[in-house]
Amino acid sequence: MAQLRPPPGSTGLPFIGEALSFLKDPFTFQAEKTKRHGLVWKTKILGSTVVFFNGPRAFTFFLDPENFTREKGSPPHIRELLHPDAVPFIDGERHRARKRLLLAAFTPEALASYVPALETLVRRYLAAWETRDEQRLNPELGQLAFDMANLLFAAADPDVSDTKNAADFETMIKGTFAPPVKLPFTAYGKALAARDRLRAYIKEAVATRGGDGTALGALKAARGPDGEALTREELEIELLHFFFAAHGGITAVFAWLLVIFGQRPDVLARVKAEVDALPPGPLTLERLGGLRYTAAVGRELRRVYPIAPGTFFGVAKKDLEYEGHRIAKGWTAVGAIWTTLQDGATFADPARLDPDRMADEAFAALPENAYVPQGGGPREGHRCPGEVLVDLVLPLFAAAFVRGHAIELPAQDLTPGAGGLGPLPKDGLRARVRAVATTPQFKSA
Ligand code: HEM
Repeated sequence: MAQLRPPPGSTGLPFIGEALSFLKDPFTFQAEKTKRHGLVWKTKILGSTVVFFNGPRAFTFFLDPENFTREKGSPPHIRELLHPDAVPFIDGERHRARKRLLLAAFTPEALASYVPALETLVRRYLAAWETRDEQRLNPELGQLAFDMANLLFAAADPDVSDTKNAADFETMIKGTFAPPVKLPFTAYGKALAARDRLRAYIKEAVATRGGDGTALGALKAARGPDGEALTREELEIELLHFFFAAHGGITAVFAWLLVIFGQRPDVLARVKAEVDALPPGPLTLERLGGLRYTAAVGRELRRVYPIAPGTFFGVAKKDLEYEGHRIAKGWTAVGAIWTTLQDGATFADPARLDPDRMADEAFAALPENAYVPQGGGPREGHRCPGEVLVDLVLPLFAAAFVRGHAIELPAQDLTPGAGGLGPLPKDGLRARVRAVATTPQFKSA
């Protein structure tokens, strides 16, 4: 290993390293570094050397559990906020056993059972939007995504919006991407206080709600091969993390879908034609699964718009060698999601939205770990279990929307704002949503 070189990069200020620019806008930070240094580079964040792995091959190297463990990898303040024992921060056999139980909330049967309440919830929002003139949809979508998480993970009533807990969530998410200074008036200090209130709310929901037709119910009922179940404490820890994991991502995918509907009449027309061709009746998992062009739009939007900058962090288990670089045991590392999705070697003209390149056949032919908006590798590893849930709620929202609504976007800045997780259109996504005549068979759906 003596002649190997460490990856290129810079270390920034003493101790904090480049944490401030990383936290302020991790997408631009990564894009600039990758342009300057290539596919593998390093930085310093809060005293740790962090290597960023870009592109399918490097991403695959990072995901290999022989090379990196997630234990003690992510910055301590993120572990503290979510809980050090939450699934992204554990590894090996403990992770496998926990993940197996968590995946019970994402089976086709479980997903199918969520559809009726999810449709009720989406229709409630659409009905309200069509009564208003111009409105800012970012906050609406944030509340909708929170209510969705609340319905799924705390068995909340889909007919009611929970604005108090949603506001606490907002505070908690802001604190994740703020400097980790623990004082009552700092963003991080406020996030911890909001987290504690949410923990109390979730504890109460687990204790008092059965959760039929929700992920809460599926997780309570989950059993491993030897009859093992999630303990009450594990369930509470994971549900808080589920809220956190789901909220920003779902808000963002809905926002970008509406931007596409407003800006790309060609895409909207194809989605609408596909939805109009569905057989009459309510939406079901099976019917939504048949919307193959809409699925391609949903995949492509997760590639084109910045949603999650990177994976959680791992730690090198031993001295490693990757393409002439030496990565020392104990260094931390990240799978660089955003720059992998924007890698021109895999996706020609990567900033262009072209749903056809995500059509089923083309998608299946992509190199391993080229398409990683929700992480990569097997589902039993650290890949996001919520991928199939997003694959469900995106077409559900799209179908409910195009069956009877049109959107107009007045002139505004629709580029993503800076922000850690799921940045939204800068000007708030100002829009007019109008009710329009729908295909006759859907009038009573
Ligand atoms: C567009 C929406 C979403 C995006 C972009 C997203 C992205 C991600 C990413 C990047 C990871 C890290 C993967 C890694 O560290 O290797 C992750 C992990 C995770 N996500 Fe998601 N996610 C989304 C929605 C959801 C939803 C709806 C849930 C529902 C519960 C969820 C639950 C989780 C969990 C539990 C993990 C940790 C998995 C593990 O470490 O084993 N995510 N997600």
